[in-house]
Amino acid sequence: MSIRIAIDGPAGAGKSTISRSAAKRLGFIYIDTGALYRAVGLAATRAGVEPKEGEAVDKLLTTIKVELAFNDKGEQIVLLNGEDVSGLIRTPEASMTASAISAIPSVRAFLLDLQRDIAKTNNVIMDGRDIGTVVLPDAEVKIFLTATPEARAERRYKELVEKGMDVKYEDILSDVITRDYNDSHREIAPLKQADDAVLADTTEVDLEGSIELIIKIIKEKTNGAV
Ligand code: DC
Repeated sequence: MSIRIAIDGPAGAGKSTISRSAAKRLGFIYIDTGALYRAVGLAATRAGVEPKEGEAVDKLLTTIKVELAFNDKGEQIVLLNGEDVSGLIRTPEASMTASAISAIPSVRAFLLDLQRDIAKTNNVIMDGRDIGTVVLPDAEVKIFLTATPEARAERRYKELVEKGMDVKYEDILSDVITRDYNDSHREIAPLKQADDAVLADTTEVDLEGSIELIIKIIKEKTNGAV
């Protein structure tokens, strides 16, 4: 049977960077589930559908195909109707649209099997908001990764500036706070720590320290099987 590691937490806690590195070191596949919601958000934007228009979104879902694939470096790519949209979904606008559209029950149902199927046949580190609570409630290891909103905004700001984007720290912080609120207050699958998840706070821990912390938790929880 495959070993499943669920890493949940708020936006910008470093989940993707930390999970990707930990997966590489442990020989696991890394799955970034946020990218799936971002791809659905992009499909809505392209179709001129507002995320809050539930019925229009339901209809849109019957016309789109979202898939995960891996490039030759083993990195995840997201396909929307066969098109690689991995880069296009990384803007601040796409983040907000993904957060809004992820509150719609049909969108969550649409993406559920895709996420579960991958974990059935592969050792995975899967990151998201509801992996330990909904997608993989029987995951062997559950980690809730967090940091203060200010620390998370600072990291996201640096990341976007490094990519050459013209952004302001205050706007990023405000987006982080809005997304935290949206993600943890929606009715379906809200962001929350699973009862059996280990809490990892990385506010004062650098990237290497955070990766080591996650690997230590995984090794302890799997009793040396990893
Ligand atoms: O992790 P991310 O920032 O790329 O996620 C984008 C949005 O998708 C986020 O605001 C909440 C939503 N999301 C979700 O609801 N459930 C997941 N498992 C992953 C992401």
